[in-house]
Parts: sequence; C-alpha cells; structure tokens
Amino acid sequence: MAESITITPTFDVNEIRKSFPVLEREVNNKLLVYLDNAATAQKPQSVIDALSYYYSNYNANIHRGIHSLAEEATAAYEATRVTVQKFIHASYPEEIIFTRGTTEGINLVAYTWGRQNIHAGDEIIISTMEHHSNIVPWQILCEEKHAVLKVVPVNDNGELLMDEFHNLLSPKTKLVSIVHVSNALGTINPVKEIIDAAHEVGAVVMVDGAQSTVHLTIDVQKMNCDFFAFSGHKVYGPTGIGVLYGKKKILENMPVFMGGGEMIKEVTFEKTTYNNLPYKYEAGTPNIADTIALKVALDYVTEVGKSNAKKYETELLQYATEELKKIPGLRIIGNAKNKVSLISFVIENIHPQDIGVLLDNQGIAVRTGHHCTQPLMKRFGIPGTVRASFAMYNTREEVDKLIAGLQKAIKMLA
Ligand SMILES: Cc1ncc(COP(=O)(O)O)c(C=O)c1O
Repeated sequence: MAESITITPTFDVNEIRKSFPVLEREVNNKLLVYLDNAATAQKPQSVIDALSYYYSNYNANIHRGIHSLAEEATAAYEATRVTVQKFIHASYPEEIIFTRGTTEGINLVAYTWGRQNIHAGDEIIISTMEHHSNIVPWQILCEEKHAVLKVVPVNDNGELLMDEFHNLLSPKTKLVSIVHVSNALGTINPVKEIIDAAHEVGAVVMVDGAQSTVHLTIDVQKMNCDFFAFSGHKVYGPTGIGVLYGKKKILENMPVFMGGGEMIKEVTFEKTTYNNLPYKYEAGTPNIADTIALKVALDYVTEVGKSNAKKYETELLQYATEELKKIPGLRIIGNAKNKVSLISFVIENIHPQDIGVLLDNQGIAVRTGHHCTQPLMKRFGIPGTVRASFAMYNTREEVDKLIAGLQKAIKMLA
C-alpha cells in the first residue's frame, strides 16, 4: 500500500496580505496598520469580487423565480448555507438561519424561544464580560416576564469565576447565554464545561460566537450548544450578514419571529401556516449578495487553514504582549491563560481616546472606548481601553509600528 503523505500548507503572511487590497492604502501619509479586526475584519479581493459579480451577472430575487437568474442566485445563496453548516459542523443545513449579524441572532432567540419558555421567577445566566448585545435582549425579556438575570463575575485576569457559575446554576436556570471569546479582553471561555453543567440542570445554552468564529475551530455538535450566533463581517465577509445556528428540534418548536413573505406556507385571512426551517425565520427578501459573498470568505479561511492562522496569530499575540509590557505605565486588561490575538490596555494618566487619535495620525487603526462592554469596564474601574486586535494578515513589523507609535504618543501626551 502506498504511504500517505500529509502536506502541511505553509502559512505565508506576505501572500495573505496580497489578498486584502485595503492593506495597500495609506492613512495620513503612512501605510495603513489595521489593528481593529475585532470590530470588523478587512475583506479579501475574492469577497469583493463576489459582490460585484453577483450584481453584474445574476442579481435576482431568490426562491420564487423560475427564470435563470433567479435559479442561479438561489443556488448560490443556498450553497452558502451548506458551507456555513460545514464551517461550524452543524448536523443539517436547515439549522443555519441567515440574520444580519450576531445581534439579530441573539434577539431572534430572545424574542422567540425566550418569550415561549421564560416565565416569572425563571433565571437567565450571563457573565460580566458580555457584549451589550448579549445583555440587553435578556434584560428586556426579564423585565417583561419578571424573570431574573444572574451574572457570572470575572477575576482580575479577566477569566470567568467558574465556581461562581456552578453556584448560580439551579433548576430555576432556564437559559445560559455566554460569550465564547470576549471582544474586550480576548479571553476564551470554557464553553464546553458551561454547556455540560447548564444541561445538567435542564437549561438551554446560547453561545455568542462573534469573536470566536474567526479564530477558533467551531464544532457546534461537539460543543453541544443549543444556539450559536456569529457575524460574517468579523470572518472576512461582508457586513449585514450573520448566522444563527440552532438545534433542529429546538428551532422546529419555536414560535415564528418576523412575519412576511417566504416564512409562510399558506396565508388566508383566517389563518396562516408557516414554512419549514430555515425559511420560517427568513421573512422577506434576504441579503442575497452578502450571503453569497460570505461563502467566499469562509472558503478563504478554510483554504488558509484555521489552525495555521491560529498558530500564527498566537505567536503574534505573544510578541505583541511582550513588547507592550515593556512600555512604562502600560497595563494590560485581560491576562487570561486562554486568549485570542487581542490586547486591551490602558496607560497611566492618559485617556485611551487621545492615544487612538495620535495612533491614527500615524496610520495605525486601533479601537478605543468601552467596546460595548460597559459593565466589564466598570468591573475593572476604567472608562475604556485601547484595543489592538490582530488578524491573520497582521505582522511583527506592524506590532513594532504600534509600539513606536505608542511611545511617540506617550511622549506627546505625558
Ligand atoms: C462578543 C460580541 N458579541 C456581539 C457582537 C455584535 O456583533 P454585530 O454588531 O455584528 O451584530 C460583537 C461585535 O463586536 C461582539 O464582539
């Protein structure tokens, strides 16, 4: 028998950079250093081309048309569903519901499953490190239903206090909604442990995958989460398209969300019957072009290889962390053992926003502020941080530019 040879694709950051046209532009007469990837990632040329090709060649409304353009558009739209299914290892394509993004995915669950299953006195558990989009929908639900929102605290390193989580769990817990990777700290949460423990008390678990989907291999079956939401634009895809995964059995039994075209089987003035999954949750004309281009983005990530990208990004994280620690007065917020390539920090006596402006003057894009995690900022007693978040196309040279830029900014502001 012939010996099988495994060829490990090599990760060439310079080749990868060539795929992202925006990385060639200048900002304030300096080559752009884009370190705001947790807010939104840049797009490879293939994604940009897919959008333009769709509008130039087969723009049509999907599902109901019988003409060629409609058939081509429908086939491309549905091909994305299958690609997403494989990308997150879901069991069935109909478990993939297209949304506008993570925010809409979480709200969809809150407005449907939540309103059906949460009653007075029930408890919902979230954590201190949630993005506002995984706090506010549950707060609205709890107010309406007289349910109780419980919050898992974090330690000084920005890790969940798991003992506290286990103590909060009880038969009253109906839902745990937890962020997989913190957008403000970079912490990777132990979602499998959380899901298993929550299931033991009969609770359903929603995972906010907005930040994890681009960095980690996602296997919703292994994870055994009940719902998982992510946004295309953080995975090198377009804005305005996201995904809600739900276990088929749960989705089938949930009430409908928005009413309109596509989500129905039959409408009469007396009674309307609803469509099967996933169309039951895709009312109206969807975001066809961006859905089609999402497939191209996910194919790109798959082609590079998630584990290759992760390895590279982890090295970049280590390098950046070591270099940042050398700056006097700089304090990293979020020192979890398990982190993605994202670093939040504050500098003594300097407002994060001033740093952000001076870095931008040097062509360096970072995010400053509370990162839609105000309760977390309160926990750390700070108004906000400077956040540098790295993607697979960032380099050590860019980290060096960030460090030099910071030193210059500190000199000007101190
Ligand atoms: C952890 C987390 N959850 C949810 C969201 C919301 O995502 P979107 O604005 O794409 O709906 C974000 C966006 O930054 C995020 O980082």
